[in-house]
This record gives sequence, structure tokens and C-alpha cells, in this order.
Amino acid sequence: QAKKLSDYKAPEFTITDVELSFELNPQATKLTAVYQLKSASGKAGTLILDGQELKLLSVSLDGQLLNADCYQVTAEQLILPGMPAKAQLELNIELNPQANTALEGLYLSNGAYCTQCEAEGFRRISYYLDRPDVLARFTTHIIADDTAYPALLSNGNLVSSTLLPDGRRHVTWVDPFPKPSYLFALVAGDFDCLKGSYTTGSGREVALEFYVDKGNKNRAQFALESLQRAMLWDEQRFGLEYDLDIYMVVAVDFFNMGAMENKGLNVFNSKYVLADQQSATDTDFFNIESIIGHEYFHNWTGNRVTCRDWFQLSLKEGLTVFRDQQFSADMGSATLNRIDAVKTIRTAQFAEDAGPMAHPIRPQQVLEMNNFYTVTVYDKGAEVIRMLHTLLGQDGFRKGMDLYFKRHDGQAVTCDDFVNAMQDANGRDLTLFSRWYQQSGTPELKVHSQFDAKKREFKLLMQQHTPATADQADKEPLLLPVRVELLAEGASLPYLLEMTETQQEFSFAVSQKPVPVLLADFSAPVKLQYQYSMDELLQIARDAKDGVARWDAIQQLWQIQVKAAIEANSSGAEYQLPAALFEFYRQLLVKPLDDLAFTAELLTVPAYDMVAEQFDEIPVQTLVVALQSFQQQLATQLAEQWQLCYQSLQAEAYQYQQQQVAKRALRSVCLHYLAFVAGKDELLRQQYNSSDNMTDQLAVLRACRSASHPLFAELMSAFEQRWNKDVLVLDKWFSLSASYPQPPVFNTLEQLTAHPQFSWQNPNRVRAVFGAFYQQNPAMFHSEDGKGYQQLADVVLKMDAINPQVASRLVTPLLSWKRYQSARQQQLKAVLQAMLTRDLSNDLYEKVSKSLS
Ligand code: ARG
Ligand code: ZN
Repeated sequence: QAKKLSDYKAPEFTITDVELSFELNPQATKLTAVYQLKSASGKAGTLILDGQELKLLSVSLDGQLLNADCYQVTAEQLILPGMPAKAQLELNIELNPQANTALEGLYLSNGAYCTQCEAEGFRRISYYLDRPDVLARFTTHIIADDTAYPALLSNGNLVSSTLLPDGRRHVTWVDPFPKPSYLFALVAGDFDCLKGSYTTGSGREVALEFYVDKGNKNRAQFALESLQRAMLWDEQRFGLEYDLDIYMVVAVDFFNMGAMENKGLNVFNSKYVLADQQSATDTDFFNIESIIGHEYFHNWTGNRVTCRDWFQLSLKEGLTVFRDQQFSADMGSATLNRIDAVKTIRTAQFAEDAGPMAHPIRPQQVLEMNNFYTVTVYDKGAEVIRMLHTLLGQDGFRKGMDLYFKRHDGQAVTCDDFVNAMQDANGRDLTLFSRWYQQSGTPELKVHSQFDAKKREFKLLMQQHTPATADQADKEPLLLPVRVELLAEGASLPYLLEMTETQQEFSFAVSQKPVPVLLADFSAPVKLQYQYSMDELLQIARDAKDGVARWDAIQQLWQIQVKAAIEANSSGAEYQLPAALFEFYRQLLVKPLDDLAFTAELLTVPAYDMVAEQFDEIPVQTLVVALQSFQQQLATQLAEQWQLCYQSLQAEAYQYQQQQVAKRALRSVCLHYLAFVAGKDELLRQQYNSSDNMTDQLAVLRACRSASHPLFAELMSAFEQRWNKDVLVLDKWFSLSASYPQPPVFNTLEQLTAHPQFSWQNPNRVRAVFGAFYQQNPAMFHSEDGKGYQQLADVVLKMDAINPQVASRLVTPLLSWKRYQSARQQQLKAVLQAMLTRDLSNDLYEKVSKSLS
């Protein structure tokens, strides 16, 4: 049943033009679909269309109604033998959007109609050649009640709108750009619309329209401005302009993912559109700008040039994530953005490589495509693009992009086509580099150094090795760009090394023994091993040019503390952090760096998942205890400094603006430690009650949660009362409740799912509760009695019947049973085996069966 990349065949028939007419009705939407078909060979043959959960009413060929014995309908296909080389096919179909809780195809979100077609959702709207290499021109008619659904939207340009005598309206949209079915979209509803405009460099006036739930118009302003910034940035950085007269964004509450780049009509999860200072945090604002950018950038990298098949998903996603990261870096702090990306790779992506779902950024085999919208395809994919950028330089990369569009505009292509464009535009052989697309797993880079004082020579001896992964036993050496700085005599010398072999030696002429800063900017997505002393790490943290390397030195310092704490723990002693670390922190607090956000980042003890990733077998409880003790020690030892630093950072009237964001980040870190110190109730309560924005309020709740502070319950109930009507904000309360690191949380989880605002049908709610439970509450999720695992397993099974995509994402933390000690292994295996005895969706079956084989 699994599909393989090696089985790719160009389609025998293609569809050049599509005309869709929808008569909307919650339980019985009528669709007439007319296709102009053409065979590639010019010969007649059998046409096989994809379709799922459709009620087919009739089929006509070139205007003739077909008898039911002229075609065959199965659960997944419509088979039409003897199709002429050129034909017009008409299908009449009935849909039930109200019953669609999978949120794929046409469904209802709070009474509004909307669609999600990527990857293979169009086949739940109509029988079709539902594959990205079939590009057709779409015309869409929507007929619906004019009062109930004043907004009737689809891709492209609105060409007509007519009020019918029966009170319904008939609108027609034409999209001039041929596109694959996954980019189709339809929306119908009663929204508020925020309007703006943008004039492109070549003078095209583009109408920008944001459709949001009634009453939310003011909360869309930031998203609109973000879009304008993204449009300008893509012109300046890549010379890419928008190509239609209108760009629409619709915010819906029911959505499986973040957002979708449908041509001219993006559909967004409302949490990535709506924000104001009272209801959204600095992080929410940041995410909105980044995702608005991401979907906009897809217009070229995804829509104008699309994927030949779904194995090539990283062609558009890795590249577009790289582009949105560059955009965010230019809008804010490049270093902070890079640190965030590194965290994602080191936690989620390395974990994926180490687990049963390991795959290359271009997977070779897929059962359910929705399972491959992964941090490997997206974020490691972006790292691979970033390495090209590092190797070719910004100008070389731009030349490659220009050639890519020149060659492939309007086509459905492969990752090889992209690398070839980069290669040809730069006259550089990238054959070896292409291995990144085939090989899964996390390379380990071991480095030793030698200094020869007589010869005045410093040598780096490097070895790379990629351990076997669940999907692939044998690994080959990769091309690794390794950025290095040599620190000596107060100076830093930068180098870019290219490692191509299993083992390699690099020498440098120096007069003094330097401290090497390795893998600066995280120039390749690998695990680095080098024996640094504590002093060397502190020196890097102070003197390296590259901010990421400075932050990384502190991370490595903490990893050393964690190992030492585990050793102390096994001999029954409580581990005390070394004086040098307190001293480093003390100095940072007394004299913060110019970049306050970076200072905040340095002052933060790494999160559980960041530390856990270093272990083949994760010592859960010991890690949780050690990290908690580190925070307690820092809090107590530096109590006065946290307080002074906190006081020096007075709150000002809220603006989402870089300096302010940075200041709030540092204040929040101080507050976090202060919550671990006795006698700070007044200060915590004061910040909660007097702040004019969500960032500062949430910081109080988070600090109280982390320290299991007695104020937590009181402030949480105030928060719930304040935001009860605003469920998008209430999600923050759901998440905080579910991540309380004490045993009563198991009762809390039950209360949360019984809360009047909770809904199993809404993915945001389910993720707010259970995503937070396993991502932010390791102590309870991994509780000794296996209760956390059982909880999540029950939820996954319940969700699988409602929404398989959401179920399949939630199951992830259960799959990695091999990473834990034997008691936990047994518990995890037992819940997975029990799951496998049930009737599972493809999505869930693929993951659970792989984890047990
Ligand atoms: N292309 C979308 C994005 O990157 C993701 C949509 C994926 N949806 C899904 N159900 N697999 O923004
Ligand atoms: Zn994307």
C-alpha cells in the first residue's frame, strides 16, 4: 500500500481546464465538475481518478450521460475505461461538509465553509487526478444564500457576482495560473474584512483582504502589515513580485496545521492571524509575521514552481522555511532567530532521526503523505538550503534562484532540478552535496586539535560518522560546511572549512595556541563532539564573534553540569553548580550585554528536551530533578542580582518593537528565577495586575507554574474569568493548566476536557491541552506509574475517529519507547501494542506499526 519515490510515472492523462460549480449546503452540497482531458500519448485509454468519501450522482462524457456500467467506483477511485484522447468529463457529486471532522476537503468551521486540499484533500471534494504534476486552469462558481454567506471566495480574480431571484448569490472566480489541485481553495461565510493594499515595484496595485470572525477586525492589523513587509522583502531580496490583483487571507478556528498557501486565497489557523497587545504575546506577534511571510513566499516557491510528486515536498517547504527565516532575521535579530532554529533541529529533528519515523528530507517511501509534513522535511530541509547558501554565498545563491525560476516557472519539478540550477548558475559541482537529499540521520562530527609550538601550527582533525537509522542502515560521508573561528590574543579569525571525507585534517598557521570555535552559526545540522574545558567554553561565550557560538558554549557548559549532576546523583550526593558559572551569570546580570534578548537567552537553563536529546537512553526523572535544582540554585545564589536587574527594566507602554521585546524577555527571565525565591508574592501579583499586555501577564503565570508557586491557582482562576469568552486566548490557560508539574494535573486534564470551551473537534483545543502536557510537562507525562502514557494513548485513539491527522501528530512522543529505561519501555510498548489491535487510520497505523517493528 505504501508508495515509493522510485515508482514515479508521468500521468497518462492530464487535465487542462477545470470548471467547478458549488451549490453550498451544510449536509448536501452539490458539485458539478467539468474537466477538459487530454492523453499525453494522444491515444485512448483507461482514466483513473482519485476520490474518497464522495457520493457520485452522475457521469457524462462529451455531453452524454454514462450508464453506471460504463465506469467503476471503488473506495478510492473512479475508473473510466476507453477514455478518448481528448474529452470533456462532467461529474455530479454530493458532499456533506458538516460531517467532515477530519478537516480535509470541504468542511465547516464555526458555520463558515472552507477547504484544505494539501496534500491529498481535493479527492474528498471531487474525483480528480489529485497529484501535483497535473496543472490546470480553474474556474470556480459558488452559489449560496446571500445573507448567510456574504463572502464567497476562491482562487484568482472575481469575474462576476449576480444575485439570483431566490435570494442566493452566484459568483465566479477565474484563476489564470495553471495549478495543481492541492492549491485549490473555497471559502464562504459572514466575516469582517480588513482591507489594505500594496503596490509592487513594477506598479501593480494589489488589494489585500483579511477575512476574520466578526468583531476581530482590529486584531488583524498586524498580520496585514506583516504581509506588506513580506511583499516588499521578497522584491528586494529575491526580485520576486506578486502576480494577481488580489491577495486574500481567511482566518478560521478549525484548522489542522498553521496555514495554507492556496493561490491568492490563503487559509490560516486564526491563532496565526489575530493579535493585539492585550491578548497576544511577543511570541504570538513573531509567529504571525513569520507564517504570513512563509505562506506569501510560497507564491513563488511552491505555487509558480511546484512539486512533481509529494516526495519532493522539501523542494517547496525546506526552501520556503529558509526564506521565512531570512525574512524574520531581517525584521528582527538574526542571532535570536538562528538560535530558535537550532533549538528546533536539536530537539524535535534529532529526535525524529533517532526514532522509528526517521526519513531523509526527500522521503523514499510513504503510506500517508500527511505524516511527512515533518520537522525533517521542513526544518532540516531549510538547513540543507542554508548550507547551499553558505557554500555559494548570498550572491551565488541568488544567481541559482534566478536560474531556477527562469528554467522552471509554471512547472512541477524535483529537488534535483533545484540543486542543478544552483550548480549551473555557479559553475560548481554539487553531486556530493545531493546526498543530503537521500540520506537520513544525524551526522556526528568528532573533532580533535593539536598545537605544534615549534612549527607554529594548529591542526583540526575531524571525523564524520552517521549512525544507522530505522529506515536506512548504510551511510556515506556528507559535504559539511564547517564554520570555525580561532580565538587567540584577543582576536578572532574566521574560516569556512568544507569537509567531504570520513576523516580530514585542516591546518592553520598560528603563533599561539588558539581556542577553536567550531560549527559557528550551526553551519551544518550535525552533533559536534570536542573536549572543551570549562574555561574554554566561558572564553568562547565571552569572545566569539558569532552569537550562536557564544550561546552554544553556554549550552555545552550546561550539558557538562547535567552529566556531573547525574554522576553525583548515582552516589547519592546533591550536586552543587561550580562557582565559575555563578560568577559568569553574576557578571551578566550586573552588566547585561547590549542585546538584552540575547542576554536573556544566555541566562536561561536549557529546557528538558534540549538536554534529553544528548542521551541514547534518557534518564527522565534524574534530568527533571537536576534541571529543577539548577534553577533553584541560580535563583537563591543570585537572588539579589535577579531582583536588581528586574527593577532596572521598568515596563513601558506596550509596543511590539525589537528593543521592547528584548527588555521584556530579560524581565521575564528575572521573574522566572524570582518565583523560586521566598517572599516575592507581592512582586508577582503586582506585575500580573499592573501590566498592559499579555506577554508580561503570561510571564507571571509561567514563572509560578515552573516554581509550583502557591500563587499559581489564584492567578490562573483570575485569568480564566477574564478570558472565558475568548477561546483563542483561553488556549494559553489550557496549556498552562496541563503543564503544571505536579500529580494533581491528572485530575486537571479531566476537568479541562469537560470545560465548556473545550471541543474534541477543534485541533487547537486538543493541542493546547495534550500537546502542552507532553511537550512541557515531562515530569508528569513520564510519571513512574505510566499514567501519562495511558492518558495520551486514550486521547490518540479517541481523536483517530474524529481527526486522524491530529491523532497522528499527538502519538509522536509514545513512539520513541527505545529511548527509555526498561520499565518505561514496557509501559510504552504495551500502550502501542494495544493500539495496534484497533482499527486505525492510515495515518496512525503507519507510525504505530513502524514503532513496533
Ligand atoms: N503547505 C502548508 C504550509 O507549509 C502546510 C499544509 C499541510 N497540510 C497538511 N494537512 N498536510 O504552510
Ligand atoms: Zn509551507
